[in-house]
Amino acid sequence: MIEGMGDWSRTHGCGELRKEHAGLEVILAGWVHRRRDHGGLIFMDLRDRSGIVQVVFNPEVSEQAFAKAEALRGEYVVAVAGEVSIRPEGTANPNLPTGEVEVYARDLRLLNVAKVPPFYIADNLEVDEALRLRYRYLDLRRPEMQRLLELRYRATKAIRDFLDGRGFWEIETPMLTKSTPEGARDFLVPSRLHPGEFFALPQSPQLFKQVLMVAGVERYFQIVRCFRDEDLRADRQPEFTQLDMEMSFVRREDVMGITEELLAYVFHRVLGVELDLPFPRLTYEEAISRYGSDKPDLRFGLEIKDISDLVKNSGFRVFAEAVGRGGVVRGIRAPGCSSYSRRELDELTRLAGTFGAKGLAWMIIEGDGIRSPIAKFFDPGELQSVRERMEARPGDLLLFVADQEETAACALGALRLEMGRRLGLVDDGRLAFAWVIDFPLLEYDEEEGRYKAVHHPFTSPREEDLPLLDREPLKAKALAYDVILNGVELGGGSIRIHRRDVQEKMFELLGLRAEEAREKFGFLLEAFEYGAPPHGGIAFGLDRMVMLMGRRETIRDVIPFPKTQSASCLMTGAPGPVAPEQLKELHLTIRPSR
Ligand code: AMO
Ligand code: AMP
Repeated sequence: MIEGMGDWSRTHGCGELRKEHAGLEVILAGWVHRRRDHGGLIFMDLRDRSGIVQVVFNPEVSEQAFAKAEALRGEYVVAVAGEVSIRPEGTANPNLPTGEVEVYARDLRLLNVAKVPPFYIADNLEVDEALRLRYRYLDLRRPEMQRLLELRYRATKAIRDFLDGRGFWEIETPMLTKSTPEGARDFLVPSRLHPGEFFALPQSPQLFKQVLMVAGVERYFQIVRCFRDEDLRADRQPEFTQLDMEMSFVRREDVMGITEELLAYVFHRVLGVELDLPFPRLTYEEAISRYGSDKPDLRFGLEIKDISDLVKNSGFRVFAEAVGRGGVVRGIRAPGCSSYSRRELDELTRLAGTFGAKGLAWMIIEGDGIRSPIAKFFDPGELQSVRERMEARPGDLLLFVADQEETAACALGALRLEMGRRLGLVDDGRLAFAWVIDFPLLEYDEEEGRYKAVHHPFTSPREEDLPLLDREPLKAKALAYDVILNGVELGGGSIRIHRRDVQEKMFELLGLRAEEAREKFGFLLEAFEYGAPPHGGIAFGLDRMVMLMGRRETIRDVIPFPKTQSASCLMTGAPGPVAPEQLKELHLTIRPSR
């Protein structure tokens, strides 16, 4: 029979009980984690948010409680009153923080029953993610998921405390707003009162935080939901949370400095680890040439080396011609991989191919000699200088890609990560932070035939590069910075444009007609005319940060109710159809899909 808590108030969390509590009368409440019948005794593991403790039902202590315990099943909700006692010699459980004690039940109240759950509530079980998401409330009961929920809370609390101490104000900005360009598609909300018009959910609070700087706020932050309708991956969700910050009267170094201090504070307070400050800084060019990525994983070396100058006159036409066409020949050294088989080399070639490389050349260092299908095209001097440049040692495998710089970098960047993993060089315990700076301001989109902002259109070029906007815009560098952790882009920001004329010039470069710019961003341009201070800021992916802090592979594990890869919620069934009346109110008709 199901009862209420009645006159019982919980005295302790299950996971809190220790030897010191022996002899104490306690009232516990939680879920039946497991029940075992041992002849005349029933053992129950009782679980709540704080952990698990063993409860013993002995008919000699309470006949009635024992009888009730016989009916218990997994995930039933119960309250227990009883006495804490030290477990008999030899029965302690060293795997459980409460393993030295148990609770002798005097009374039991059944608070609710439960159907047999579709999966066992425990960590490290292989459960299909779709099932976990469908029954998220059960998934979140698992101790590991509870740990992650708490970790996320601790991290946000630490962020708020740090920023409060530095004079930042947390300020909310609208969710129903105009399009905020961060390069993704918008989620739109139809307006009932304005037929045919739509709000956009913010891709970030970028424009509002800049307006707040014009408003004299000086130091703003917000832990804020952002919405982007883009292709999803392990570290991307259609709605995600940013820690968004903006400051007035700052240089790039000021924003980077406070960001480092913030991260050091949060990682220290939440994980107890000390970060080395300042973080290493790489220019965008260095990151690409040495690591083949603008978010390099610095937990290991395997740096990419350029051998273009050494092979440009060689007899190997693939290399010589690539350099002749303005491309590069670059490679990495895989230590101790000289025994790689044909099949393994083919696999690596395929991997490089998925990044656009037209081939992968390899050399194996055997003592003083080199084994390679292409060795015969080089003279001994060339081979020797390649060996030296690559710092090759006997037993090494060298992998080379000849192509345009971008393709070669990208393919070798992917090979570097793959070899790092294969060779076990990725030290899981390390936290390798880095800044990437001096990004180009613009890139050229071949398909659309126009310039695009590498970060966003509000990022300022370096002051000395302003004249380049007219002559060679692709050469202009941005006052932008990304913070990277273990090969993941944790956050990014920039010093902003705060002058109307410069902002208009930027829009013009991006192919935005003046009229269109005014329609979309007129309020910002206008605000810039009323004493806009110089300002800059940064935003972090909070989900990504907590994912890395919690050592998880996907941000879905640190978002209580995430969407699937196809952007739906398996628990609620969202998105779903709406009633015709609702559509009518919103002035919408649905065109049947073909
Ligand atoms: P950006 O677009 O780089 O910059 O976003 C900042 C950080 O947000 C995280 N992030 C995401 N996390 C999960 N799912 C997503 N779909 C997703 N998209 C982005 C990343 C990223 O580094 N307004 C600027 C910031 C600024 O200039 O101050 C902005 O939004 O960790
Ligand atoms: P081929 O001359 O096409 O038979 O190629 C000879 C070797 O060079 C093969 O091992 C190819 O994989 C390799 N190769 C071909 N194109 C490239 C390239 N762009 N970069 C690196 N290696 C290449």
